[in-house]
Amino acid sequence: MNISISRRKFAQLLGAGAACAVARPSLSFSAPLAAESTAAGIVRLSSNENPYGPSAKALKAMTDAFGLACRYPDEHAVSLTESLAKLNGVSRDQILLGDGSGEILKICAEAFTGPITNAKTDSAGRGKLVVADPTFEAILAHAKVYGAETVKVPLNATFGHDLPKMAAAAKEGLIYVCNPNNPTASITPKSELRDFIAKAPRQTIILVDEAYHHYADSSDYESVIPLIKDNANLIVARTFSKIYGMAGLRCGYCIAQRETIERMRPHQSWDSVNIMALVAAITSLDDAEQVANGRRLNSDAKAFVIAELDKLGYKQIPSQANFIMFDTKRPVVPLIQALKQRNVQVGRLFPALPNHMRLTIGKKAEMDAFLSAFRQVTA
Ligand SMILES: Cc1ncc(COP(=O)(O)O)c(C=O)c1O
Repeated sequence: MNISISRRKFAQLLGAGAACAVARPSLSFSAPLAAESTAAGIVRLSSNENPYGPSAKALKAMTDAFGLACRYPDEHAVSLTESLAKLNGVSRDQILLGDGSGEILKICAEAFTGPITNAKTDSAGRGKLVVADPTFEAILAHAKVYGAETVKVPLNATFGHDLPKMAAAAKEGLIYVCNPNNPTASITPKSELRDFIAKAPRQTIILVDEAYHHYADSSDYESVIPLIKDNANLIVARTFSKIYGMAGLRCGYCIAQRETIERMRPHQSWDSVNIMALVAAITSLDDAEQVANGRRLNSDAKAFVIAELDKLGYKQIPSQANFIMFDTKRPVVPLIQALKQRNVQVGRLFPALPNHMRLTIGKKAEMDAFLSAFRQVTA
């Protein structure tokens, strides 16, 4: 039996880059409980996953929890919420768990974008969605479903968010800031983001997506979670899919002021995070090595592939994530297809950067396989 949803389908649904989207390989349910879960021979560097998988402690905790599969996950949801509150120095009612941070993005689109139909009952002012271009597109697709006008503001010359232009584009509604940004792996400098948050009108909701937070080590980067206490319009989304290696389990969360969380909660299905994901997330937070190891392994493999691409004359956008984006100096779509024929899957086309390839940092052997195939297809 195969998992049938693919990145290709997802991209098609989003209407972005469908022609060259890269399908996820079929995954076997009989795959071992290890990170090596892609179909034989496929090198998957297309979805910014963590190739090292969840913490060994999380795998054991899930095995031990199989017997709980018949129970609703309420207590575990409370327990994870408590751990996250403690970790982030906020109260429990400032956290909303999600079925992946993707669910948080969807809830934000539903709660804060769309036509203003009744300003009295919906006083917070729904409205436009403003995003960077390119950025992670999921929230755009959701906002369109809710009838929202969407505005794309090109990244600036250093691949940061053009915050003044984004602010000017939405006086109410939702501004989505992905930091570090997917697909460019670039950051928006902390001073610019701080200033933007301080000056944004209170009726403009700012959603900062920190999915790749743990991989960022630049002195110009910072999480904006500490700013939440002073900004009722700020929401920060995080995920267990990246550094915690839990993309297939689906667990994410957001932090905001209590009143903002209360506006989001009615849009969520009850018990949306499953018990295995909760158990794994709770345990992962207690495994200090997971984050440190994930960072180190990623930065070693990233340095290796960047040096090799450099030797070949390809320049990357400075990366603060577990993927890189580099200029292939030609249209990327034929390269994506040629690599796929050699069983190497890389990121899809991002139309704003048609010559750039997004490449997930996998294990060293996977990067070797990519480089060998890349040399062939560019020869
Ligand atoms: C920037 C960003 N946000 C959110 C997500 C969704 O992550 P998940 O739903 O797995 O938490 C992704 C997935 O790749 C992403 O790149």
